[in-house]
Amino acid sequence: MHILVIHGPNLNLLGEREPEIYGDMTLEQLNLEITQYAWKKGIQVECFQSNHEGAIIDFIHENRKSADGIIINPGALTHYSYALHDALKSVDVPAVEVHLSDIHSREDFRSISVTAPACIAQISGKGKMGYLEAIATLVRHLEVF
Ligand code: DQA
Repeated sequence: MHILVIHGPNLNLLGEREPEIYGDMTLEQLNLEITQYAWKKGIQVECFQSNHEGAIIDFIHENRKSADGIIINPGALTHYSYALHDALKSVDVPAVEVHLSDIHSREDFRSISVTAPACIAQISGKGKMGYLEAIATLVRHLEVF
């Protein structure tokens, strides 16, 4: 099984960016934890981060034939990117949306996700555990379908 883990804008600064909200783990450490957890389950993950909407869309398109699932934290693109919504809908690959913080208990604009309707699930506010839970969600979904 091959899963794409996609991180959107500003997530490259994890560890130094608002640590009181996002924690002190760097993106590199987060990717390592996800990769190791997946590896134990025999799942191969490919991690990607970009601050650019188009680069994320290109990455989804390029990998649409080889990926079995997508885990995506779209960062702020969550709240307004219909282009990313359409990209997720355009490919026949199930996606789970993950947020480190609880987007439903922060500013009003964060509780709106335009990308979640293009995903099979949204996991929010569980920190790094959200990514591990997303792997389990994808595996369950892929076993059923
Ligand atoms: C985030 C929440 C978003 O509102 C924010 O723009 C981010 C990170 C999260 O992981 O909690 O960049 O997606």
